[in-house]
Amino acid sequence: MSISHNTVELVRATPPVLTAVSDILGESLREISQDERTGVAFHKHRFGGDLADREAGAIWCEGRLGTAVDPSRVVVTNGTQNSLLMLVASLVPPGSVLLTEALSYPQIGTLCNLVGATARSVKLDELGVVPDDFKRCCEEYRPKAAYLIPTVQNPTATILPSNRRHEIVAIARKHGVAIIEDEAQAFLPPNADAPIASLAPDTTWYVLTMSKSTSVGLRVGYFVAPDLRQLENVYARFKKMSMWFSSPITAILATRWITDGTANRILAAIRGEMAERHRILRDELTNVSYQSSPNSLHVWVKGASGLRDAAAIGEWASQRGVIVRGWNEFQVADSGGPHGARVSLTAGDQEALRTGLRKLNAGLGAQC
Ligand SMILES: Cc1ncc(COP(=O)(O)O)c(C=O)c1O
Repeated sequence: MSISHNTVELVRATPPVLTAVSDILGESLREISQDERTGVAFHKHRFGGDLADREAGAIWCEGRLGTAVDPSRVVVTNGTQNSLLMLVASLVPPGSVLLTEALSYPQIGTLCNLVGATARSVKLDELGVVPDDFKRCCEEYRPKAAYLIPTVQNPTATILPSNRRHEIVAIARKHGVAIIEDEAQAFLPPNADAPIASLAPDTTWYVLTMSKSTSVGLRVGYFVAPDLRQLENVYARFKKMSMWFSSPITAILATRWITDGTANRILAAIRGEMAERHRILRDELTNVSYQSSPNSLHVWVKGASGLRDAAAIGEWASQRGVIVRGWNEFQVADSGGPHGARVSLTAGDQEALRTGLRKLNAGLGAQC
């Protein structure tokens, strides 16, 4: 498919480019370069983060978990994909099953293939993962773990209601299923429901990235283990492999930003920008129904008949000069899933967003 220069790409769900963040980055890098400890840090591997990094990670995760986190349970990685690789490889042995939502972060399927695990998917509805189907899948597939994105689901943008979170925990406990909870965008809504990890800290691996709340280029992620014994099993496999260690410069930056309040300032700026972009969304996307969460980086356009045929979506959208991601791109197991398309609100500036949404609205209006 050739993309004309007039085409608007509403594809990547990463934070919008903000001048204020670029300015902060420049200032922080200057200060870090003048700190004599930086040179020393560059002569060492940053295995799982140093103590200061783990303490900062604990503080950042506490912002969602609501209680104090022991820093020794926190692992600092160079992003969520590394966290997930370590967790899936350790919790889901080859030949066994990982449950995922019917549409999910596509890389989880790639990771399953890599480690020889099988992904099976649980139904999603307009509230998120369906507890009855989660129960059925636990009984039928006897999974070792479930990978869930209950807060600002990717791609459907829902926030799973609290009662469903409790139901999922009870079912997972009954069947001995560990939960890997990915809260990538959870800081964007001001008051999302408490994470599953805060309801079941003993069986949940909590995964958080700085990518969606500060900057995707930072490449720093965290995960919190249920306890030190289970964490040792993960370390036993990965301890000597440097591919998941965060680089000193980004770990120093993330730790500094969290401890001096900069990360919260950046988050506030992203939330402010996203609130404006959601206003543009409400103004422009009037012809179709969509799901979103407050300040989410993407929304989910549902129900348009033209979006049911996976192969047609790319062509359909590009003919109208706008690129979105069809539902099939988020299919992990061969399972169907809600039909629709993920629309990013962050690619380009606000004017580009308005133009893209207008094109989409005009085209979708004809489809519905
Ligand atoms: C659910 C989810 N988790 C994690 C990530 C990426 O995290 P990281 O940049 O830390 O690899 C994404 C990016 O799209 C995502 O959608």
